Amino acid sequence: MRADIALLPGDGIGPEVTAAAVEVLRAVGARHGHDFRFDSFDIGGIAIDRHGEPLPQATLDGCKAADAVLLGAVGGPKWSDPNARVRPEQGLLAIRRALGLYANLRPVRPHAATIGASPIKPHLLAGVDLLVVRELTGGIYFGDKTRDAEGASDRCYYSVAEVERVMRRACTLARARRGHVTSVDKANVLETSRLWRDVATRIVRDEFPDITLEHQLVDSMAMHLIARPRAYDVVVTENMFGDILTDEASMLAGSLGLLPSASLGEGTVGLYEPIHGSAPDIAGKGVANPYGTILSAALLLRHSLGMAQEAACIEDAVDAALSDGAFTADLASDGRAMGTAEATLAVLSRIDQDCRVSD
Ligand code: NAD
Ligand code: IPM
Ligand code: MN
Repeated sequence: MRADIALLPGDGIGPEVTAAAVEVLRAVGARHGHDFRFDSFDIGGIAIDRHGEPLPQATLDGCKAADAVLLGAVGGPKWSDPNARVRPEQGLLAIRRALGLYANLRPVRPHAATIGASPIKPHLLAGVDLLVVRELTGGIYFGDKTRDAEGASDRCYYSVAEVERVMRRACTLARARRGHVTSVDKANVLETSRLWRDVATRIVRDEFPDITLEHQLVDSMAMHLIARPRAYDVVVTENMFGDILTDEASMLAGSLGLLPSASLGEGTVGLYEPIHGSAPDIAGKGVANPYGTILSAALLLRHSLGMAQEAACIEDAVDAALSDGAFTADLASDGRAMGTAEATLAVLSRIDQDCRVSD
């Protein structure tokens, strides 16, 4: 099968980790007889430098014309002046909005080999397998912003329809898992959260009576996530809470560099990216962990191209590479770390050895 993949490497370590994922996609494609074509476009800081805006029209058009989008990361100190006219992050928010990508899936499954990299006690991590569904195109990220000499404001708004669709998506995903949904809000303080809770309750009662729904306030959720992570199956929450809780949840896996994500809408192209940022502190050094992006490529195959077997091939190869001790610096505790290229080679060699093509 032929597939056109739009590549948005972005800034900082973005180009390093997307290059790794492209190598892995090419290897899996070759093995399974697929013709993956890659077309690169600018987004974020590099797009500001080259075109004066963080999401050029050509980038958006290229993504809309593709079968799927793979993104690295955007942002960095060069573009972080609080008074800058445009910011790299606006490009990311704009593309999520323009493509209608309201559901951001962030799976968290600690691997046995990386449990030592987590600051959390090993017995709490065994069997953890949760999926955060983060609402991605609403809430405080997208409300009107004001700023004057006296102060500033960010408006937080959710429509009923926005909550309904992300809740349906979370419940549908939970049906294929363990049937448990934890809806996270701040309903003791925020009106948007009271709406969120009402809608969640109604959707589950009327449309998903087989799903067990629990509500949890976001502050205590931040604690429970670390204290009893095994208790969670699907966690659904609004945009900013999901952003914060998933960086926290990455510590269950052992590193921010390990977590992938899929951003999905309805009938639009899907966008795949690691949950981490551009990591300016390590950019250009060849030491970034590529696994979060490689695993995002696996999600791309599964969700956008319907290639479940090929996706599993990548996931199994990453699992095997980790079991073999192919650790980048963020994972290695004994000082024997691999660089990005070497870790990617470890995945490629596992694909070569283990990836079976069934007909
Ligand atoms: P960050 O995720 O870039 O980095 C946080 C820490 O994690 C750093 O110490 C970094 O070195 C480490 N880290 C992250 N990814 C890693 C990897 N793959 N391998 C090894 N270590 C890794 O967050 P930050 O420092 O708060 O933000 C830096 C910039 O990235 C900001 O401009 C921010 O807006 C942007 N950002 C972009 C995205 C995105 O494009 N999706 C996501 C988050 C942050
Ligand atoms: C993420 C990032 C983005 C977000 C920023 C860079 C806009 O932190 O993808 O998690 O907050 O959504
Ligand atoms: Mn984030």
